[in-house]
Amino acid sequence: MSTQFLAPVVAPEEEELEQSLRPRRLTEFVGQERIKDQLTIALTAAKARDEALDHVLLVGPPGLGKTSLAHIVREELGVGIRCVAGPALERKGDMAAILTGLERHDVLFVDEIHRLNRAIEEILYPALEDFRLDIIVGQGAAARTLTLDLPPFTLIGATTRTGLLTTPLRDRFGMTFRLDYYDAGELGTIVRRSARILDVEIEDDAADEIARRSRGTPRIANRILKRVRDVAQVRYDGVITNSVAAEALELLEVDGTGLERIDRDLLSAILVKFEGGPVGLSTLAVSLGEEPDTIEDVYEPYLLQLGFLQRTPRGRVITALGRDHVGAAAADASKLF
Ligand SMILES: Nc1ncnc2c1ncn2[C@@H]1O[C@H](COP(=O)(O)OP(=O)(O)OP(=O)(O)O)[C@@H](O)[C@H]1O
Ligand SMILES: [Mg+2]
Repeated sequence: MSTQFLAPVVAPEEEELEQSLRPRRLTEFVGQERIKDQLTIALTAAKARDEALDHVLLVGPPGLGKTSLAHIVREELGVGIRCVAGPALERKGDMAAILTGLERHDVLFVDEIHRLNRAIEEILYPALEDFRLDIIVGQGAAARTLTLDLPPFTLIGATTRTGLLTTPLRDRFGMTFRLDYYDAGELGTIVRRSARILDVEIEDDAADEIARRSRGTPRIANRILKRVRDVAQVRYDGVITNSVAAEALELLEVDGTGLERIDRDLLSAILVKFEGGPVGLSTLAVSLGEEPDTIEDVYEPYLLQLGFLQRTPRGRVITALGRDHVGAAAADASKLF
């Protein structure tokens, strides 16, 4: 089993599951109440005025619902959607073709928008501001700018960190929403809803246990649920009880705070190899055999949230809480072997 198994990044073979469990309407989207309130107002106002919704920037760690929200907005507006990944757009012409293909009030969803290349980003500025596309035709002295009108549309951008966006791009979003980690009650609701969709019986305390160990992340909650369902089916009668859930979580090496092996390896590397830190991100990444971006976007945010880790100007430092956790995990492991 890969140590990244539950990491909140989508694996291609799980896309179908993601689709089936994805909330379709705002009312099905659990939690993030402030975002839902603000979006509801903005959606209602835009529809009443028969205007395109303002451009929306969604910020947050993987698996918290950015893509789901983009699709929900489209559904609530009753318009079309075009989805692209920032890094997949290579030439200005690609972006021009997408923009001219949009229909009135459509949603253009750009995932990983911080990874758009600069030339493509610049095409977006007039498009976002004035629904205008400037194309340069000809070369040298004969070159001239051709301006095309675009239908009014809504850009929804998704990114893991706002700091990665250039200021001119960031300034062109009318609304910026930061998604927070979910609390155990919200995740419990999500687990129960997913169990209903997957048609599997789950006891309340089992749903709560999965929720507590999902790192505040709906995608992880759904993945754990799926693995727990397998254990319930293969070893028991299919019903997910608390003890079935506990057994499956043990198999997955997910500990009581929801940390997995890779999270614990990260903490113990700082503690043991780098004497508690500070250690630079790239040094840490090399020692774990991971990409610095993955560490920063996928693993660190939750460790920071738990207060196990600190980012300082000189590097990463493990906190007293983090030390306690690594110490407890080591003590548990020595009991097992
Ligand atoms: N608020 C929510 N209520 C119910 N389910 C949710 C919610 N947020 C996310 N999910 C579930 O978690 C899965 C992952 O969400 P989503 O793909 O929207 O995350 P994301 O923020 O786009 O992640 P990434 O940064 O990796 O693209 C969805 O398939 C959905 O089932
Ligand atoms: Mg997404």
